[in-house]
Amino acid sequence: MPAVLLRVNGTTHELDLEPQVSLLDALREHLGLTGTKKGCDQGACGACTVLADGVRVNACLALAVQYEGREITTIEGVASPLQAAFVAHDGFQCGYCTSGQICSAIGMLAEHGDDVPSAVTEHLAAGGVELTDAEIRERMSGNLCRCGAYNGIVAAIKEVAG
Ligand code: FES
Repeated sequence: MPAVLLRVNGTTHELDLEPQVSLLDALREHLGLTGTKKGCDQGACGACTVLADGVRVNACLALAVQYEGREITTIEGVASPLQAAFVAHDGFQCGYCTSGQICSAIGMLAEHGDDVPSAVTEHLAAGGVELTDAEIRERMSGNLCRCGAYNGIVAAIKEVAG
């Protein structure tokens, strides 16, 4: 089994992985980074969203070997104003979708600014991203919340974006 070098939250890990192991399983089962959640495991819910070079990715659909050399960021590596904003605006109930929601929001704000950042927090510090509630809902539509905390999620993202 070939060694795979995965760089996650600033640390490079050498893992022995079968080629069919998903990025999600590599993170959760091989690195113990269980903040990234497995919901549907087929690309439909967004619970597994992480960032690869600042771009949001459904980790359940990605093969770990394809992400060698990329900078993967999971919720454990995120220090963003979004986290406090989600708390302030009740952007969750059970919390299962929250890490995916936050990683997705970071990627979404970067996409909106047409500027994929090298450091995840840079674009947030810059601020000033104007989005309507409808635009946020549309751009976050890949992340489901079974509890229905969407109003809080949108409010949290809007606060940080503005
Ligand atoms: Fe990956 Fe649902 S677990 S999209």
